[in-house]
Amino acid sequence: MPAPDTSSFSIDLADTAATEALGARLAGALAPGLTVFLDGDLGAGKTTLVRGVLRALGHAGKVKSPTFTLLESYAISSLNFPLYHFDFYRFTDPDEFIEAGLDEYFGQTGDAAGVCLVEWPDKAGGHLPSPDLRIALAVVGEARHARLSACSEGGRACLDRLLHAAEGRPGQA
Ligand SMILES: Nc1ncnc2c1ncn2[C@@H]1O[C@H](COP(=O)(O)OP(=O)(O)OP(=O)(O)O)[C@@H](O)[C@H]1O
Ligand SMILES: [Mg+2]
Repeated sequence: MPAPDTSSFSIDLADTAATEALGARLAGALAPGLTVFLDGDLGAGKTTLVRGVLRALGHAGKVKSPTFTLLESYAISSLNFPLYHFDFYRFTDPDEFIEAGLDEYFGQTGDAAGVCLVEWPDKAGGHLPSPDLRIALAVVGEARHARLSACSEGGRACLDRLLHAAEGRPGQA
């Protein structure tokens, strides 16, 4: 049997809990150095998904939207790499990315390289490296839809783990 095509994956998200559950699945599939772009309009559920990632990893504190701070960093005791949550919505010029010194967080390699989860990546223009994974969230009536697309070998492996873990644990969203 040919291997299933895991370069993209779509899922309906009926409510906020479903978006958080997708975040939890992503949490279990992360690896150091991955860059994930979160695309979608205002209110599409990008921060909700990141909240699901962090909660699943055992983060008990608040998950604030980095709309004003640009970056929220998380040291998670169950991970040996940091997790960075960015939101570039407020950029009026992509060069603000460089001025804020944020380029140092991207493209890290090695076992301790951070994972970057990025809301509004397009606002940084061409300053960001291409992502490993893109998650496009869309509002559909009262619900949401997500499409996950792998853009690198690392992203493909991440998507494989995400799908495989779900198969092994029926009942988990
Ligand atoms: N699957 C879903 N169905 C219905 N509502 C949802 C779903 N997922 C998230 N929401 C709700 O959508 C609202 C906006 O979510 P969120 O703040 O995560 O959006 P966002 O994409 O980060 O927006 P912004 O671009 O402003 O940062 C929240 O009230 C959240 O609870
Ligand atoms: Mg947000």
